[in-house]
Parts: sequence; structure tokens; C-alpha cells
Amino acid sequence: MSDPTPPGQPTANPVDSLRYRFSPQLVTLAEGHPAEAEAVRTLRTHIIARHIDDGRRGLAVCSAKPGVGCSFTAVNLAVALSQVGVATLIIDADLRKPSLESFIQPEAPKPRSVDADRTPLERIHQEVLPDLSVLYAGDLARSSEELLGGDNFRRLMERCLRDFEFTIIDTPPASDSSDGLRVASVIGYALVVARTNVTLMKDVSQLAKQLQEDGANLIGAVLNET
Ligand SMILES: Nc1ncnc2c1ncn2[C@@H]1O[C@H](COP(=O)(O)OP(=O)(O)O)[C@@H](O)[C@H]1O
Ligand SMILES: [Mg+2]
Repeated sequence: MSDPTPPGQPTANPVDSLRYRFSPQLVTLAEGHPAEAEAVRTLRTHIIARHIDDGRRGLAVCSAKPGVGCSFTAVNLAVALSQVGVATLIIDADLRKPSLESFIQPEAPKPRSVDADRTPLERIHQEVLPDLSVLYAGDLARSSEELLGGDNFRRLMERCLRDFEFTIIDTPPASDSSDGLRVASVIGYALVVARTNVTLMKDVSQLAKQLQEDGANLIGAVLNET
């Protein structure tokens, strides 16, 4: 991957003229979801106290099965961190079913020709909100193989961990692919999301075991209640 920007320098924003639409599912922004927003803020407090304050700069948000609120938790946590001034990057690593756009929708798609030559790093949407930057799945890689196993992804992660105070990667459920495990092992830390009355304990334990076998530290589990 070409790497034209010196370490520590902010990257150019190719899309800074874009505007964004924020879904009501971003409960940390929207009015009218006090309980959900409070739950995310409590999670933020734990992540800051037990993770960020220890000098760690990122984590993968993982789940065993779809529909448990993995993306919901990842993106709301990212917004909540940005709201207290932590320069945060949220990456959608669910290439098969990306969902970040359903939370933060760019006003208009970019013409493909404009950014065909850009690296994923250069495609980061900088500061869509103060201290919140976004990398959409479609801008991350053209194929899952290219993305998650390779050196390019590792280099991208090194750069993101350096350039942002905190990087959160939303991953696909383990039942769909091993991408989440691979991402977690590269970034080193995982947070597992489960859903009240839906997720089975045995699925969470199995995911926790797989994460540990792949070398990712499990920093905690979130019980998402809706
Ligand atoms: N705590 C919650 N409160 C309100 N809506 C939620 C909550 N958790 C998840 N959702 C909604 O449920 C749907 C599925 O959640 P999502 O995060 O996309 O699941 P996953 O990423 O685990 O497949 C989305 O529309 C999401 O906004
Ligand atoms: Mg998801």
C-alpha cells in the first residue's frame, strides 16, 4: 500500500464536502432513546477506564450470530467516545452485509472514478462528526480475502491505530464467516455482543474460546437489551 503521509500527520479527506444523514438508531445522537443511550454511555465509561486508559487503541466488536446488535453497539460506542473528545474511527468490516451506511448515510455516493486509485486509508471519511471518522466496508477492500488475511490490512490497522486515538471495527457474526476472528486477532482485542433472550451461552463461550485461540484478548461481553 502506498503511504504518502508522514507518521502522525492527518490524512487528506477526499470526501470532506459530503454531508451525512444520521439514523435514529444512533441512539447516542437521537432524542428519545434515553435507556439505550445510557447503556452505551455506561459501556463507554468501562471501555475508557479499563481499556483506553491502559493505552490500548482499538478493538473489534464481535458476535456469534446475526441480529444481536453488534453493529448497533459498535457504531453507538464510537459516537459516544467521540462525544467525549476521543478521536475515534469506526470501520465496517462486514463485507458481505455492510450496515454502517444504515446508521451514517453519506448524502450522495461518490463517483467511482474519483477514488478508484485511492487506498482504504485515503478513503476514510474524516470527521463526519467532531472526533468521529468512518471507513465504509465498500472502501475497505474489494474482497474479503484481500481484506482480512493480508499484510495490507495489517498495515492499514497499524496506521489507523497510530492516527486515531481509538479504532472500533464492526465485524460480521462468527456464524457467517471467520472474518471477525481474523480482524480481532489483528487488532488484538475483542468485545463480544450478545442479545438478551436470544443469544445462547454456549455460542458466546464458543466464540470466546475461538477468539482466545486466535490470539485476541477478550475484554468483555455486552448484553444488548431491546
Ligand atoms: N439496543 C437496541 N435498541 C434499539 N435497536 C437496536 C438495538 N440493538 C440493535 N438494534 C437494531 O436491531 C437491528 C439489528 O442490529 P445490528 O446491530 O445490525 O445487528 P448485528 O450487527 O448483530 O447483525 C438494527 O436495526 C439495529 O439498529
Ligand atoms: Mg452487523
